[in-house]
Amino acid sequence: MCGIIGYAGKRNALPVLMEGLSRLEYRGYDSAGIAYVDGNHNHPIHIIKEKGKLIELRRALSLVHATPHIGIGHTRWATHGEPSRRNAHPHLSQDDNFAVVHNGIIENYQEIKSYLKRKGYTFRSETDTEVLVHLVQDEFRGDVLTAFRNAIQRLEGFFAFVLISRHSPNELFFFKRSNPLVVGVGKKENFVASDVPAILPYTKRVVYLGDDEVGCLNEDSFKIVRLKKPTPVQKRIETVPWNLEQAEKGGYHHFMLKEIYEQPRVAEETIRKRLDFNRQRIVFDTLSFHANWRLKHVRKIFMVSCGTAYHAGIAARYMFENIARVPTEVCVSSEFRYSDPILSKSDIVVLVTQSGETADTLAALREARKKGAYTLAIVNVVGSTIAREADCVIYTHAGPEIGVASTKAYTVQLLTLALLALHAGYLRNKIPPKQFEEMLSFAKHIPSDLKKILQEAPRVDQCAKKLYKKHNFIYLARGFSFPNALEGALKLKEISYAHAHGYAAGEMKHGPIALIDKEQPVICIIPQSKTYDKMLSNMEEIKAREGIIVAVATKGDRAVSKFARWTFYVPKTSEFFSTIYTVVPLQLFAYRMAVLNGRDVDQPRNLAKSVTVE
Ligand code: F6R
Repeated sequence: MCGIIGYAGKRNALPVLMEGLSRLEYRGYDSAGIAYVDGNHNHPIHIIKEKGKLIELRRALSLVHATPHIGIGHTRWATHGEPSRRNAHPHLSQDDNFAVVHNGIIENYQEIKSYLKRKGYTFRSETDTEVLVHLVQDEFRGDVLTAFRNAIQRLEGFFAFVLISRHSPNELFFFKRSNPLVVGVGKKENFVASDVPAILPYTKRVVYLGDDEVGCLNEDSFKIVRLKKPTPVQKRIETVPWNLEQAEKGGYHHFMLKEIYEQPRVAEETIRKRLDFNRQRIVFDTLSFHANWRLKHVRKIFMVSCGTAYHAGIAARYMFENIARVPTEVCVSSEFRYSDPILSKSDIVVLVTQSGETADTLAALREARKKGAYTLAIVNVVGSTIAREADCVIYTHAGPEIGVASTKAYTVQLLTLALLALHAGYLRNKIPPKQFEEMLSFAKHIPSDLKKILQEAPRVDQCAKKLYKKHNFIYLARGFSFPNALEGALKLKEISYAHAHGYAAGEMKHGPIALIDKEQPVICIIPQSKTYDKMLSNMEEIKAREGIIVAVATKGDRAVSKFARWTFYVPKTSEFFSTIYTVVPLQLFAYRMAVLNGRDVDQPRNLAKSVTVE
């Protein structure tokens, strides 16, 4: 996620903006920039931006001798267009009279870009952001706030903007929808920022903006109105109770927990971006005609990835075979090359990776290309090596994941792969239209259902408090839930250091059942599904041996509670999407177990967020 800071006041804005940006660094970024209104008589806007770390921007700024009193700054996490100086924010309007910084995604930017090009606007970057700043210029008839409001009303998507203008050189203009934005209230100075840490050195008094609120501020005051109706909105000034470290985590104790709680929002963004409910279509804007043709005629898919992303690959196998009827093989990246895979031109190798830099996955990608297969990368980090080298890329847009243990990146991988499987099924004529519609309506409920699942946290806590001293856990599941037996066990292992092993429940009788006694906790993932009865029989067998059962089941399921000591409930959904649901209580469980054991949750021992060595 990008970071925004804006300042208007008596101080020199440049060090204030730099300090603000440095406090947003923890979120991850690939480039940064600032814009300020020069105090000279005709108030030109100056922009300084650089690719890479803030040190580059700082170096460029050391050559600037201005002392402006108003400006905006941005750290960019690329979404549209590679990380580069050209794509870094702020962006200028064609007439150089407006500059904007932006967080989020403008979904209909292509359409607006074509409209603006027809009117003679030229674009200096590949970003979606640039359309807004030209639109403001286009709408400007003498009042900046009105032009800003009119321009935003033409946009679709989730975003936050902060704008400065030569026409109103003492003011900042801002807007929020779904992406956070706060106004910081100081003495003879005011701020606007995407995150509280950016303004904490200067003030703890903030106004949280609501969705579709737009406003302006100068050094003395601020004004907030609604996007569609310019009547003022009365806002309360609140005092931030957090210190810097707490503020970076949005008030959560750990980034991992923050990221677990971000899942409904990132799922909603994915659904909004990928589903066109009016036309009952799934949209993958980066899939070219050729890529769609490949998907339609594919002979075999190979899902290749590591760790949590490998579990997403296993889930994808169930999805693609079930709904698109494509034979799908799943491989861990580190083994892919050594199995000398048999690949043909009609195969697609799908590389799933959060970082886009994992060495084994990159090596697998190169091997696949060498052997002539078509490569499709599902990546979170825009512009990463795997994203650049694959024939085609689909971004997951989960935002930066700071906790080492992957949570929200996994859920968005699952959701993106599910929608891709549906899209492939549609292209291949394997899904009857009625079933397709039904699946889209299930998908619509995912974000609100994820919120409901998070309400299970107190129940998860109770269970963890009883089990946190245990050192061995078994996770069992079948079918679509099977990858979560592996993922639940991996999450627990990596952050709590308890040993945990995930099995396909049908394998229990072939060995693991020997471990079951009255000391052994077994986590059974048993949502409503084709394999429900078989899973219930497994639970019966565990109960007969006095194992301690913890279940993840569908809301309203009474049968499960006969066997389980604790049950975490998830709402009813299609079996096809259930993997996205059942993992959330397992993430919460691993998190609580780690906290109770006093572990370093965000940076577990021996692990790195990005594994760039083989
Ligand atoms: C586990 C975890 C790792 C990663 C794996 C792949 O919580 O985060 O297992 O999933 O290292 O990383 P990416 O997805 O960046 O290729």
